Amino acid sequence: MENFKTIIEPFKIKMVEPIKVTSREDRKLFLEQAHYNPFLLDSDKVMIDFLTDSGTSAMSSEQWAGIMKGDESYAGASSWYNMRDAIFDLTGHEFILPTHQGRAAERILYGYLGGKNKTFISNTHFDTTRANIEFSGAEAIDIVIEEGKNTRDFYPFKGNIDLTKLETLIQEKGAENIGGVILTVTNNSGGGQPVSMENAKGVAAICKKYNVNYFLDCCRVAENSYFIKHREKGYENKTYKEIAQEMFSLVDGAIMSAKKDALVNMGGFLSLKNKEIADACKNLLIITEGFATYGGLSGRDMEAIAIGLREVFDADYLHYRIRSTAFLGERLREIGIPLMWPIGGHAVYIDAKELYPQIPVNEYPGQALVCELYLKGGIRTVEIGSVMFGKYDDNGMLIPAPMELVRLAIPRRVYTQSHIEYVIEVFEKIITDRNNVKGLTIIEEPKFLRHFTSKFSRK
Ligand code: F0G
Repeated sequence: MENFKTIIEPFKIKMVEPIKVTSREDRKLFLEQAHYNPFLLDSDKVMIDFLTDSGTSAMSSEQWAGIMKGDESYAGASSWYNMRDAIFDLTGHEFILPTHQGRAAERILYGYLGGKNKTFISNTHFDTTRANIEFSGAEAIDIVIEEGKNTRDFYPFKGNIDLTKLETLIQEKGAENIGGVILTVTNNSGGGQPVSMENAKGVAAICKKYNVNYFLDCCRVAENSYFIKHREKGYENKTYKEIAQEMFSLVDGAIMSAKKDALVNMGGFLSLKNKEIADACKNLLIITEGFATYGGLSGRDMEAIAIGLREVFDADYLHYRIRSTAFLGERLREIGIPLMWPIGGHAVYIDAKELYPQIPVNEYPGQALVCELYLKGGIRTVEIGSVMFGKYDDNGMLIPAPMELVRLAIPRRVYTQSHIEYVIEVFEKIITDRNNVKGLTIIEEPKFLRHFTSKFSRK
């Protein structure tokens, strides 16, 4: 696209889905009924849904056309071969297993490689990744670089893993006890920040030296490739797809939640270079997910994934995607909202601890902002802080997460510029009212993944 200030959505709208407009009065009641946890809200009570960019993409006319051609055969469906070929073209990995979403692939792979006394190391494990690893009995350790923990200063690749810590950890734990090293691109729980190719290569060298498995959690690999092309020397003239292909060539396998960069509403895969691991995973897949040529997906889902995996690397699409997310973040920063800087690929992360210094971490400043955004504007977001990642010590005291962030995850190809302008206006009200906001207490919580179903009361 030429150098215009205004970035247009590189698509036209063919079908619309109404948004139900609610009043503040309505929302106050709905929020109480949802126990101050917007995960428990019905979607028709939400005006702008920034809960997740996962499975919320608008599909293209090509994808919908593909859906009509979906082959629903139990075994050997042509849609499976289309999906497999698209994944092979991208990853070059020989063994490919379809799964119904990312966490199904995680349960299979990390369940197989995990277990007691095993350790997995990542820049930051996503919450389902961590939960699947811990459920197997293994431990999950996050070692993002120090720059990645600083929310304010510009650093081009804040998603990078700390290579020195990685090598030390492998030595300390013993290479034979490492279930795998998982590079998450982009680093979702660490602010949606990208990982450089240099860092991905550094991990590869260490994993090779110690003969440790190296996996890519690649659900936002196209967005990560955009940052590499525009921020890393030597990649200016490569296509986004070539950059992704190079990253896949470094690893032993990959897990993808296709609900992100494959631009679909459901799906995932596991790709591997090693036959022995692939065979074991295939058996586990058949037990719980489905036969190896559909793995819990309909033929039409697989057809849409095959098309989405190609569309996502379109240069105009990626430019619009990354720049429009940055536009929201830049405007919020201008009006004084403290946020993770620079802006990541799929989301804007607000630093709620800094926005509400009056709220202590054990009263969850992030959850307080999540509630305010809903009350003031009908905007649904998610806390990525001590509700999601906090733990308790033996005395029942909260061990807080390193950061108290709130994520505004932008669905792909769904909202227009005026929706975004509205969100900015809601944040202007958030700023005006910042000193009056109080924290929350958890009154009910599950053992794992507590942000999904916990109930809160207001102070
Ligand atoms: N890995 C990462 C980095 C993710 O962001 C997610 C999902 C998964 C794995 C699991 O994939 O949902 O298909 O089972 N992230 C969503 C989110 C839920 O909102 O960020 P899944």
